[in-house]
Amino acid sequence: MTRLTNKTALITGAASGIGRAVAARLADEGAHVALADFNRDAGVAAAEAIGDAALFVDLDVSREDAWQAGMAAVRASFGGLDILVNSAGVISLHSIEDTSLDEWRRVMGVNLDGTFLGCRFGVAAMKDTGGGSIINMSSVSGLVGGANLAAYNASKGGVRLLTKSVALHCAKKGYDIRCNSVHPSFVSTPMVDDIADGARDPDRARDAMAAQIPLGRMGSVEEVAGMVAYLASDEAAFVTGSEFVIDGGLTA
Ligand SMILES: NC(=O)c1ccc[n+]([C@@H]2O[C@H](COP(=O)([O-])OP(=O)(O)OC[C@H]3O[C@@H](n4cnc5c(N)ncnc54)[C@H](O)[C@@H]3O)[C@@H](O)[C@H]2O)c1
Repeated sequence: MTRLTNKTALITGAASGIGRAVAARLADEGAHVALADFNRDAGVAAAEAIGDAALFVDLDVSREDAWQAGMAAVRASFGGLDILVNSAGVISLHSIEDTSLDEWRRVMGVNLDGTFLGCRFGVAAMKDTGGGSIINMSSVSGLVGGANLAAYNASKGGVRLLTKSVALHCAKKGYDIRCNSVHPSFVSTPMVDDIADGARDPDRARDAMAAQIPLGRMGSVEEVAGMVAYLASDEAAFVTGSEFVIDGGLTA
């Protein structure tokens, strides 16, 4: 697995779950990886677990000044950027009637502002150095609605169409920057564990989630990382503005 030799990657939300597994997989494929997160302790541990090819970057994705500093750190260590994976995200299990404006802004700030800022800084970094690949972590919740997912649905649907706009702009400008979105259903991560642990019977809640999936189980972080590795690689050179569903058949 050396599809990403000599490439550099920045992965947000890399201290945990999908982002952490993506960082490990891209490093396995030969890339130098910057693990960005605002959880310093877990982020440093994740980078140390990968080894010399990895660097931790302290970055709150919702803050523009943090992106400026984070990208400067990546430039100083790696020279340029070939791959950006926007995976940092938060969930919110509230309907339109019980989502406060503060909660709405919290979710938008991370999921949508964070991805918007990532794309803007990513394009700026990649366009003068021969292009690259941006992968935005949306969700099946960016494709279909849920009664208790008002802010999460809106943020992930926004990520889906922001991705297409970025892809078309970069194609029109001839930047050779591709941009695609990934749409998982339930994947076993701390985010999903928190949902289950908040239920009266966590084991039953986990079983209920798996039962919704035609393949009868949740996805693994490694399965999502495999899809991201493909989109990051030159094998996906003709793939841009597309949405990649990895959901065990849920939306079929
Ligand atoms: N796990 C699932 O079932 C699932 C399904 C569909 C989509 N997703 C999406 O995949 C992505 C990763 O989710 P996960 O399950 O790995 O979650 P997770 O909670 O395990 O990891 C999320 C990471 O994002 C970081 N983060 C949160 N806010 C941040 C901020 N402002 N700045 C920097 N980092 C921040 C957290 O510290 C954490 O390390 C999210 O965008 C999520 O919406 C997850």
